Amino acid sequence: MNIIIAEHAGFCFGVKRAIDKTENALKVNKGCLYSYGPLIHNPQVVDELENRGLKQIQNIKDIPNGNIVIRAHGITKPEIQKMEELNINIIDGTCPYVKSVHKRVEEYMNKGYNIVIIGDKNHPEVVGINGWCSNGAFIVNNVEDIKKMPELDKICIVSQTTNTYEQFYKLSEEVKKKGQVVEVFNTICLATKNRQIATMELAKEVDAMIVIGGYESSNTLKLKEISEKFCKNVFHIERINELPLQSISKFNTIGVTAGASTPDWIIKEAIYTMDNFNDNEMMEAIENSFTRI
Ligand code: F3S
Repeated sequence: MNIIIAEHAGFCFGVKRAIDKTENALKVNKGCLYSYGPLIHNPQVVDELENRGLKQIQNIKDIPNGNIVIRAHGITKPEIQKMEELNINIIDGTCPYVKSVHKRVEEYMNKGYNIVIIGDKNHPEVVGINGWCSNGAFIVNNVEDIKKMPELDKICIVSQTTNTYEQFYKLSEEVKKKGQVVEVFNTICLATKNRQIATMELAKEVDAMIVIGGYESSNTLKLKEISEKFCKNVFHIERINELPLQSISKFNTIGVTAGASTPDWIIKEAIYTMDNFNDNEMMEAIENSFTRI
């Protein structure tokens, strides 16, 4: 079994930055550091930070005082304002890519444009972006959503940062038909683009693909979707113990990719386990081939 890792896989700079900020803050704010929702979409990393003292809250009012980390996905402008009013110290882990989308939608809303976000309306990043344009954006994720939109004069289109370019391009072409003046901004981040291209190239070459990452992670789900387009055997796992090792041992080449919130140690653990399984299988086959004389 030959295992090949995608050229770009695992932690992106935005997630790494949010975790670094949290780890540094944990050193100085022992017992008094909160995260507003899960810091990233990876339960293993979140558990590990919670073991070290990070407390997760779902409502700003639940913090009596202290310090709060804003996750890489970002939050709405009114939520930031509320925290400032309450004198809560903000440690801003919002990914700079997401922040630039906040600025863009706010700027264009102020210029009189209708904002269209291409993405999942329930995803925290999209909820956050919408909160920078007075919660007035049209959020579309398929052609049916776009058909329900009214005809508009000025439209500014942005994307959830983890979209596939294919989806963004297809839907933005449809949205363009709804407006007189349309500005389109491809706000898919570079880390997403690199991971998607590397996954596609690898999936074309291998017999099976292992996609490692949180089941709630949007960018991981997109890597799974891309892998399935180019490879017949795709396994999405959070940890290696979920992988049916016996069934994958029949494949000659296996590709491994991982979402932007999957830490190195989870990727290494998976590869190490598959490699060892390989060796154990080989040993077993050799032992079975011995004949008694
Ligand atoms: Fe930022 Fe892109 Fe990562 S938006 S958090 S660099 S997946």
